[in-house]
Amino acid sequence: VNAGSRPVLDLRSDTITKPTLAMRSAMMAAEVGDAYYDEDPSVNALEERLALDFGMEAAAFMPSGTMSNQVALRVLARAGEAVLCSPDNHVVQYETGALAGINGLQHMPVPLVSAGHVVDIARLPDAIVTPAMRHAPTTAVVAVENTHLRAGGRTYPIAALEELKAACLRLGIPLHVDGARLWHAARVEGIPLARYGAACDTLSVCFSKGLGAPVGSALLGSRERIGSAKKVRKMMGGTMRQCGFLAVAASFALDAHFARLDDDHMGARLLARWLADAWPSASVDVPETNIVLARFLDAASARACLEGALTGAGLRLSALDALTVRGVVHLDVPLEELRARLGA
Ligand SMILES: Cc1ncc(COP(=O)(O)O)c(C=O)c1O
Repeated sequence: VNAGSRPVLDLRSDTITKPTLAMRSAMMAAEVGDAYYDEDPSVNALEERLALDFGMEAAAFMPSGTMSNQVALRVLARAGEAVLCSPDNHVVQYETGALAGINGLQHMPVPLVSAGHVVDIARLPDAIVTPAMRHAPTTAVVAVENTHLRAGGRTYPIAALEELKAACLRLGIPLHVDGARLWHAARVEGIPLARYGAACDTLSVCFSKGLGAPVGSALLGSRERIGSAKKVRKMMGGTMRQCGFLAVAASFALDAHFARLDDDHMGARLLARWLADAWPSASVDVPETNIVLARFLDAASARACLEGALTGAGLRLSALDALTVRGVVHLDVPLEELRARLGA
């Protein structure tokens, strides 16, 4: 296939989507106020809706997923303490060292049963450092990611998450879930959001990824923790004023773009099949959600795949690392256009 003069389909990330015309119209009509004073009706409506949907006491609108995660960790842990999580988690890999640089926290690796994300509950108690153990940083929080970015958009199965929450409760350690793409997990598992809310202590969700809003995340938790989170958010410079325009985009995205995630999941499966056929030397798992990884044994083959997808089918993929090519299907990749490019 030759890409010819067709526009390139950009599959580098689901963060690149641009607001649709309908979303822009909704944003234009937003009622706004000063959100610092809790006087932005659109922000208040979004926060109340999220708390209700997830069955959690309160929510705080945040400028980004990174801030949402870091504010949560700041609320749950003190400087010098440790966050127990996979070294492959976003909070360790992609938050520019904020864990240590801003929050003074240390990452400690959690025992895992599956590459990148599912915690081995049987071995969890041995990994916990109590305040009485003077030589090591006290475990303040356990953190997981759902879906897991570097594991290729894998869900954290709800039953496993519930077991983890129960184990954390027994151990007296709070559980933070980075649910930047929780929407994808909820769609695939067909489970009400409240079940995810019950299976953690704090939850961060993003609107600016698969849901297609331009900006915005939210942190959910108890009233007390979200009250503290709003203060930490202010300290970190993340309190926005008339940000109802953005909250309306998030609400619009929840209404209009949640169910269509099924298209992205279908597109990802088609892309995975195409990559496996076109590059037989690659190992390509069947994707669970919207992220596809093709793992190569050498960097030259990974580069050839990136180049071939671009020149052959007009698909712009990205490099997760030197050996791994990544494609992410999203709102701005129409399923029919993707099918046409893949000959599927
Ligand atoms: C799993 C996960 N968590 C958190 C974030 C951070 O979101 P943001 O880019 O809004 O800071 C991302 C961003 O892609 C992500 O993939």
